[in-house]
Amino acid sequence: MADRGRFITVEGIEGAGKSTQMEVIGEFLGTRNIPVVMTREPGGTHLGEAVRELLLTPDNHGMATDAELLLIFAARAEHLHKVIRPALESGDWVLSDRFTDATYAYQGGGRGIAQARIGALEEWVQGSLRPDLTLLLDVPVEAGMARIEKRGRPDRFERENREFFQRIRDNYLQRATAEPRRFRRIDAGAPLEQVSREVLEAIGALL
Ligand SMILES: Nc1ncnc2c1ncn2[C@@H]1O[C@H](COP(=O)(O)OP(=O)(O)OP(=O)(O)O)[C@@H](O)[C@H]1O
Ligand SMILES: [Mg+2]
Repeated sequence: MADRGRFITVEGIEGAGKSTQMEVIGEFLGTRNIPVVMTREPGGTHLGEAVRELLLTPDNHGMATDAELLLIFAARAEHLHKVIRPALESGDWVLSDRFTDATYAYQGGGRGIAQARIGALEEWVQGSLRPDLTLLLDVPVEAGMARIEKRGRPDRFERENREFFQRIRDNYLQRATAEPRRFRRIDAGAPLEQVSREVLEAIGALL
């Protein structure tokens, strides 16, 4: 039987550079012939992408925070069942643009849901599965916002205020400090080449 693949997640506020670094990592693993499934949350499955649309559309403004949390974990259960666990079990690596740390940061830090409630859902849906490595692309809120300013219509999260994103950043930083073995915090306000270098150093350490 093949060894279980590695599970890597990329986290950070909007505009931190997650999508950019996903590409960088994908290319790096490709040149080393490591089979990798690239995915994202919310999303990653037919059901998950439909839930993502529900979560992001500004039409659902004022959504109950518990509805938001439960939709995210419903999508995550499907993602784990259909994509993440099968890939890891077959020996593929899984690289996800956001995962459960984002739930602690956005729905916990951002929306104010108790961490213990999120923890209960994490145990329920994931059992003991946790990422092997989490890259926190850490950028000041203003810098992240400035990078995505030129995009089109802001989604339901992007319409939140600066304080919301500051709480999210702070929560991510606390989590990274609390779990230094799993997290690697990267200064994502740095020039792209430097960020990519630090990201690939962290990935290379898994090989
Ligand atoms: N280190 C960097 N320095 C300057 N610009 C960057 C850097 N990294 C990414 N960018 C640019 O910032 C913008 C946002 O990057 P990207 O889309 O990767 O962020 P993201 O974290 O995926 O955002 P979102 O959360 O909205 O998906 C892009 O235009 C990208 O080219
Ligand atoms: Mg992105």
